[in-house]
Amino acid sequence: MNSRFLFSLLCAGGLWAQHSETALTNPFRTPDDRARGGAFFRSQCASCHGIDGKGGASGPNLAAGNFRHASNDEGLFRVITKGVAGTSMPGFSMNGREIWQIVAFIRGLNTGRAAGATPGDARAGEQLFQSNRCLQCHWLNGAGSSLGLDLSSVATRLTAIELRQALIDPSAEVAPEYWIWTAVTKDGQKLRGSRFNEDTFSLQILDSAGRLRSVAKADLREQTLDRRSPMPSFKDKLSETQLNDLVSYLNTLQGAAK
Ligand code: HEC
Ligand code: HEC
Repeated sequence: MNSRFLFSLLCAGGLWAQHSETALTNPFRTPDDRARGGAFFRSQCASCHGIDGKGGASGPNLAAGNFRHASNDEGLFRVITKGVAGTSMPGFSMNGREIWQIVAFIRGLNTGRAAGATPGDARAGEQLFQSNRCLQCHWLNGAGSSLGLDLSSVATRLTAIELRQALIDPSAEVAPEYWIWTAVTKDGQKLRGSRFNEDTFSLQILDSAGRLRSVAKADLREQTLDRRSPMPSFKDKLSETQLNDLVSYLNTLQGAAK
């Protein structure tokens, strides 16, 4: 919630465009966001890109999951707000939230296709999931660690391409709640945790034991914010086949059957 609010502020201020080492994650990607994005898409974009995003008279296919002008959500956001110079793709000046919702819609376009077409063996992937100790940090169907994200319905949030990206380059898109803040106080105490909130004089930190504490900025000697993911990359640990298997397995995690 906190990060969503922060992102709306960033978007409203246009600050999102300032370059950071890691790309921003789309804060608006619930099914509801996708639906709203779809409505914007049909009214603003379908005339060129087709009603289903698969390309139209003058705009390219956006449903294939790979883009010439963008490699991640932040890139798509930029293309939509700035347009593509020298082409008929205009820049759009809707508010940040609406743009993110359109991005969510575009991302959702290739989910169905990917779900049927992942190249790996999901059963082998499940074994890799167990043997690579993903549950050390993640939570799945009632088991695992509360440290990381719940993966029980990850396939409804991420496309196969994004799942793969999460495994090979986890630091490419990391939500602020996972950024690690470390500091040393003037009396030499070391602090570590995630930054929960900030005001003029103090910071609220969620420490590694899960306690929320308030720290006066004036008491700090130094502080750093590490935006890398705590998740290791599996790029060199798993072969191409194993990655395909694991992505295929993750792609089956659609949430508890009701
Ligand atoms: C007047 C026609 C037109 C409209 C309207 C339009 N586009 Fe485009 N769009 C294009 C064209 C043409 C390109 C290809 C530019 C190029 O040659 O690289 C493009 C490219 C893009 C790309 C980059 C594709 C890639 O491969 O990197 C995205 C993303 C995109 N459009 C999204 C949108 C969205 C979202 C909307 C509505 C908010 C929209 N477009 C409205 C014509 C349009
Ligand atoms: C050391 C802890 C750790 C381990 C081990 C770990 N992860 Fe993660 N993982 C995280 C954290 C923290 C995040 C959220 C931050 C980010 O996006 O990188 C994450 C994010 C993800 C995401 C993206 C989820 C989303 O909704 O964006 C996927 C998918 C994922 N992990 C799968 C795996 C799999 C599969 C394994 C085992 C092969 C694994 N992780 C091992 C900590 C871990």
